[in-house]
Amino acid sequence: MFPTRLLRSSTVNANEIAHFSRLSAEWWNERGEFSFLHKMNPVRMQFIREKLLETAYDEQLEEAVDAKKVGILEGLDVLDVGCGGGLLSESLARIGARTTGIDASESNISIAQHHASLDPRLASNLTYKHAPAESLLTQSKRYDVVCSMEVLEHVDNPSMFLKTCAELLKPSGHLFLSTISRTPLSYFLTIFMAEKVLREVADGTHTYSKYLKPSELLEFFQLYRSSLPSSVNGDSVQTQSRPWITRLYSGEPTRKEAEVRGMIYNPLSASWVIAPRGAWGAAECNYLFWVRKPALNDTL
Ligand SMILES: C[S@@+](CC[C@H](N)C(=O)[O-])C[C@H]1O[C@@H](n2cnc3c(N)ncnc32)[C@H](O)[C@@H]1O
Repeated sequence: MFPTRLLRSSTVNANEIAHFSRLSAEWWNERGEFSFLHKMNPVRMQFIREKLLETAYDEQLEEAVDAKKVGILEGLDVLDVGCGGGLLSESLARIGARTTGIDASESNISIAQHHASLDPRLASNLTYKHAPAESLLTQSKRYDVVCSMEVLEHVDNPSMFLKTCAELLKPSGHLFLSTISRTPLSYFLTIFMAEKVLREVADGTHTYSKYLKPSELLEFFQLYRSSLPSSVNGDSVQTQSRPWITRLYSGEPTRKEAEVRGMIYNPLSASWVIAPRGAWGAAECNYLFWVRKPALNDTL
């Protein structure tokens, strides 16, 4: 299991937030500091759409899903935790998701709000809030989808952060993460090459010890049970869900409970691709992660 700083009551690391706040003017410069995130955005969106479609096909009539294929996110309540300048939030809102972007950096939220204001079509379904993830737990609102892309490696107390994201979901909701694994390859590519040699990313952006391996996320959700409200004879009681991941086969979760997909950068085409499911070594550096919250009556 990954390190837990039990005494901390926040997921916010002040140095990380100061770092991203200093860079906030750069968010929408496609060739600048965040060029890798701009290029990553299409594959993140692809993963979210494909996974939602796949689960819809598993659970609904094929014709019904076909009819809403393009608009699979339409009308869903989506939370983008650590939204930065709003790269993913805007893409989600544009295809119809009722999107809320939150970030612990005030200047990131100002930039995100300013950029969204340039496109009046975003006004009806995109809102931003300056807030750390855990502050949302006090509100009653819960989401169909929670995304947190390239944030986990920048938080304090990752267990608390994951638990917060998990609890902000409605039952049967979807959690999407992208992050960086802790391997010699990821150190070489994301710190040595990207920060020190090529200087494509500001020095100090990444901290190797904060990277989490896919197996550590799988292990977390194998142990994690969420509290589910239910009622017995009209009285409301709290029950616990089954663990979010009930079993692994050769280290892989079942397709319906969770998924890990490597994300590979092709320097020749200057674009990211999602590696096929289970591709050997593909998740040694950047990877996408999806896990589903159990349904209300799924208490095993
Ligand atoms: C690498 S950026 C990723 C931004 C965005 N998700 C993207 O990929 O385009 C990490 C962001 O997470 C934010 N952040 C870090 N810790 C956070 C926390 N505990 N709660 C909310 N935001 C946080 C930072 O301010 C920063 O904007």
